[in-house]
Amino acid sequence: RTRWRIAVAPGDGVGREVMPAAVTALKYLMRDNGPQLELTELEWPATAYHRDHGRMMPEEWRTRLAEFDALLLGALGDPGPSSDAERYRLPDAVSLAPILAIRQGFDQWVCERPAISLEGAPRYLADKRAGAIDMLVIRENSEGEYIGQGGRTARGTGHEVATQVEVFTRFATERLFRHAFERARQRSEERAAGRRPLRFGVKERADAQVCLVTKRNALRHWGEMYTEIFAEVAAEYPGIETHHELVDAACMKFVTSPWRFDVVVASNLQGDILTDLAAVLCGGLGVAPSCNLNPSNRAALPMFEPTHGSAPDIAGKDLADPRAMLLTTAMMLDWMGEEDASASKAAGRLRRAVEADLREHQRESRPGSAIAESILGRIGG
Ligand code: IPM
Ligand code: MN
Repeated sequence: RTRWRIAVAPGDGVGREVMPAAVTALKYLMRDNGPQLELTELEWPATAYHRDHGRMMPEEWRTRLAEFDALLLGALGDPGPSSDAERYRLPDAVSLAPILAIRQGFDQWVCERPAISLEGAPRYLADKRAGAIDMLVIRENSEGEYIGQGGRTARGTGHEVATQVEVFTRFATERLFRHAFERARQRSEERAAGRRPLRFGVKERADAQVCLVTKRNALRHWGEMYTEIFAEVAAEYPGIETHHELVDAACMKFVTSPWRFDVVVASNLQGDILTDLAAVLCGGLGVAPSCNLNPSNRAALPMFEPTHGSAPDIAGKDLADPRAMLLTTAMMLDWMGEEDASASKAAGRLRRAVEADLREHQRESRPGSAIAESILGRIGG
């Protein structure tokens, strides 16, 4: 493809504040033989839809989204002024958060969340080796703990029981692990070609490594299956070092020595938790990009959305950092770049602009709009 139809959904809360910077950046990057993008804005704020239609997205969301090559999303979901109990309750007609409906509806079976320490980003770890973090957390995105099956019986009585079913299939596990090993190989090739900085911490681990995370000592059945399939897939990649961490120990090691990790692969829920942690090691949710892909079918719609949510607590105050959204936009351009060299170039320009801005302003606190303006100024404002 050389012409791309992009659905742009700012969504709710801070999603609406950070998306304009991404749209303007894309418009600048299209100039001078940049990628050819057709941007279509979708006004799908989940709160308004819920209030007006009792749904979180328009009824025809699936067919509407299927018209596009990619979805760039700010954040979906805004509790409005509701109480805490209400806030986390989905409308009765909805069994999954809209974001999960999109992931599962388009079989976006992998969620990739890179955690790279960028000079000038907030630094929560004291050890200076934290400046050498360059890991990619690969999260299972189609099943596991997130299938939404189970229920409540004897509601409200003293005998109430809630069940939540987790399902792990060999099919989804094999493709996930193979993808993790492919990414590890690709990252090590990029390092060898000088396209990926050789980090200071790299000496403390093998050049290419995949770490499997489970809780196999307690969640035995899927833990065993994951372990077996991991060994089978690893045998296809003799050059890549492997190790296995239990999720609790992985959390600890993320904090004590995150520079030792390269590619990390985890289940849906454990990956969800690990990626917030990984994000904070590298400056927090304000700079953490994310994408949801179906690597086995390039025609399936991918979704690019920052790791952060709609953040209703800071929405409307110009406090949201647009850099996570801009780095997420760069991930979208990377994905296009697999077919369109002009998109790769644009991704590089955008990423360099964000990095240069961070270096210049270090940990200075600035309104979101000021950050956006100075980054946009670097790519052609
Ligand atoms: C994320 C979010 C979602 C998730 C929520 C909103 C359902 O936390 O994208 O990480 O758990 O996947
Ligand atoms: Mn999350």
